[in-house]
Amino acid sequence: MDLRVELQRFRDELPIEAASTPPASWYTRAEVLERETETTFRDSWQYVCPSDRVAAPGSYVRVDIVGDSYLVLRDRAGVLRALSNVCRHHAAQLLEGSGCVEKLVCPYHGWTYDLDGSLRSAPNMGALKDFNRARFGLPQVPVEVWGPLVFLHPGRPARALAQELAPLAKRLADFGMDGLRHAHRRRYPIQCNWKVFCDNYLDGGYHVGHLHKGLAGQLALSEYRTELFERFNVQSCPPARDAHFRGRDFRERIGAGALYAWIHPNLMLNRYGPILDTNWVVPLGVDRCEVVFDYWFAETEGEDARRFIEASLEASDDVQQEDVAICESVQRGVSSRSYDTGRYARTETGMYQFHRLLAKELRGPE
Ligand SMILES: [Fe+2]
Repeated sequence: MDLRVELQRFRDELPIEAASTPPASWYTRAEVLERETETTFRDSWQYVCPSDRVAAPGSYVRVDIVGDSYLVLRDRAGVLRALSNVCRHHAAQLLEGSGCVEKLVCPYHGWTYDLDGSLRSAPNMGALKDFNRARFGLPQVPVEVWGPLVFLHPGRPARALAQELAPLAKRLADFGMDGLRHAHRRRYPIQCNWKVFCDNYLDGGYHVGHLHKGLAGQLALSEYRTELFERFNVQSCPPARDAHFRGRDFRERIGAGALYAWIHPNLMLNRYGPILDTNWVVPLGVDRCEVVFDYWFAETEGEDARRFIEASLEASDDVQQEDVAICESVQRGVSSRSYDTGRYARTETGMYQFHRLLAKELRGPE
């Protein structure tokens, strides 16, 4: 396969009515994921975790982003940092998972770093020539808190995240983002390319009436709309006026309508009723990904809140299982010889925006 040719085959200059979707190779070839890793993923703000996970001094969360491992942690002075999770000695990874520590000790030879990333001690390295300990601290990358979410940028951000997402903050203001509490994290491994999951999210509600019959009854799908911004888009839908209930009762969950924000390249933020959830799509291979769901609720204390949370998580899981099955079906489809490219429905402007942003990044400067 000639990567350049495959990237050029996507004609992103066409209006959506005339455009075709990217070739199947974008979803099946390792070269494309490698290129996405070097460009898209290394040059975008990447979601890490809910901000309350790193609120206390010493608390940390490890995050792996397409091959690079980071520790996002709160140092003793209260500064939030994103440090490389790789020891400067022989490259062992320092910490797993999440937790709270006073210092970072490499499990391999005991090199010890302060929480600000500086190398505090390196056993038996005193006799070395030209070994300047001050130059062996852990590299750091930019990190930012946005609402209840933490992000890091693996490269050099063109602008602050708060600036990039300012119009989204405005759009979400009606829902109120303050006082939300993180209640649950759930992981869905999916046998599909990470973009298949994003595409499914970005079809402007096209699949909802067919695939999610329980959810569809609650939404006024004819009023579904998509607004495009520079590096994100917002899909929204008011509740159905006379909601008919099929399957589980979604009424409470939908509340005054739903807002679905997608942030390029791999984060979705869903706001409905007293709930915020995020879908973070982590590529694990060209035909494999994991989608991490975090859930926040306005109320988490007490029996009523607990019942509501449980019912909401179950309803969310129903929808998610339907999406997992269809995404795995699509991955088998794009891998078969009978499929190369498809077309866009008029509702799929968000998807076309996603593919255009990707194409630009994958091709690089002309
Ligand atoms: Fe769906």
